Amino acid sequence: MATQRVFRLPQRTSIHDLTVGEEKVPEPAAHEVLVRIRSVALNFRDFAVSTGKYPFPVKENVVPCSDLAGEVVGLGSAVEDFSEGDKVIASFDLNTPSGAMQDWLHSLGGVYDGALRQFIALPWAVLVKVSSSTSLGFSQLAALVCTGTTAWNALYGNMQLKPGQTVLLLGTGGVSITGLILAKAAGAQTIITSSSDSKLKHVQEKYGVDHIINYKSNPNWSEEVLRITGGRGADFIFENGGAGTIEQSINSVAYGGNIAVIGFLASADKDKMPDVAALALSKGAVVRGIMVGSTEHLREVTRFVTSKNLQVAVEKEFGFSREDVIAAFEYLVSGQHVGKICINVD
Ligand SMILES: NC(=O)c1ccc[n+]([C@@H]2O[C@H](COP(=O)([O-])OP(=O)(O)OC[C@H]3O[C@@H](n4cnc5c(N)ncnc54)[C@H](OP(=O)(O)O)[C@@H]3O)[C@@H](O)[C@H]2O)c1
Repeated sequence: MATQRVFRLPQRTSIHDLTVGEEKVPEPAAHEVLVRIRSVALNFRDFAVSTGKYPFPVKENVVPCSDLAGEVVGLGSAVEDFSEGDKVIASFDLNTPSGAMQDWLHSLGGVYDGALRQFIALPWAVLVKVSSSTSLGFSQLAALVCTGTTAWNALYGNMQLKPGQTVLLLGTGGVSITGLILAKAAGAQTIITSSSDSKLKHVQEKYGVDHIINYKSNPNWSEEVLRITGGRGADFIFENGGAGTIEQSINSVAYGGNIAVIGFLASADKDKMPDVAALALSKGAVVRGIMVGSTEHLREVTRFVTSKNLQVAVEKEFGFSREDVIAAFEYLVSGQHVGKICINVD
């Protein structure tokens, strides 16, 4: 195919600014692999980029979205470890083979053109090969990129989760449900919170979470976490709320436990901000900011998920027309979802 369908954002005021056009399929350079993209997983970041609310630099007329899975259809002259037909996923950050990300300037759909297109040429070193025998679909694989790496980093990037420990996940979005699946498979006890009783029931039935708490009807939900854990608290917390939930999270954490500060969904007035330093000290807890993670994290989470055949939670898939892509973004911001939303690229 000489040309491909490509989505771009000439302006970034609304998701309706998305345009779609035909562009040349790139030739892979010597160390690049040409990937036919089969699925793109959405993150809230992609909506923030498209509405001008992303706090980090974004290139002019960007191709949005960071998370892709696909198959290899072309190889640069110096590429050795890949073959045509290999299933691959691309790392969120193109500049972090291992260790901590150094900035927010090297991800697709930000400073670099992203995934909302049919073909992309990428350096082989940022691609993770997936076993051809995996039963996971391309959307499930794409959903591992930002969300899977983030959840893996929260559980293994600093202190390492042990079987029998308790993991508390705030909310029922993609990061929480992915963390739940990983934590359960690793033998942890799990607790999830939600604003919705029906979502909690769904997560219990579909994903087998051990304990549920409605954070709307229990504003002091840390008391419930302490009751469930016999007063001990949770060893790992996925802190998706941020300023508005950190106090309850520190109250919920076990002495010496680990709070992964991931999201910023709940704000707090400046004068009501808790004294995080004093609270963390009082629990001897680690309060650790998470910046997605490295290619090594993506490789590790992919190996774990595919070897245990864990069914990554893709709640809904949309098509690749402009209307479908806009509908996918609108569904993401409506907050109805439990798990990930993806776009099938054809
Ligand atoms: N730091 C990083 O590297 C990184 C990486 C990925 C994502 N993130 C951020 O992490 C957050 C979660 O991402 P996601 O992809 O899982 O988002 P998502 O799929 O859109 O899920 C958001 C969910 O969070 C829950 N929520 C909203 N307000 C809450 C509150 N006050 N307390 C507890 N839960 C609340 C809601 O769950 P219920 O409807 O069940 O109440 C909502 O459905 C976002 O802020 C995202 O930008 C950060």
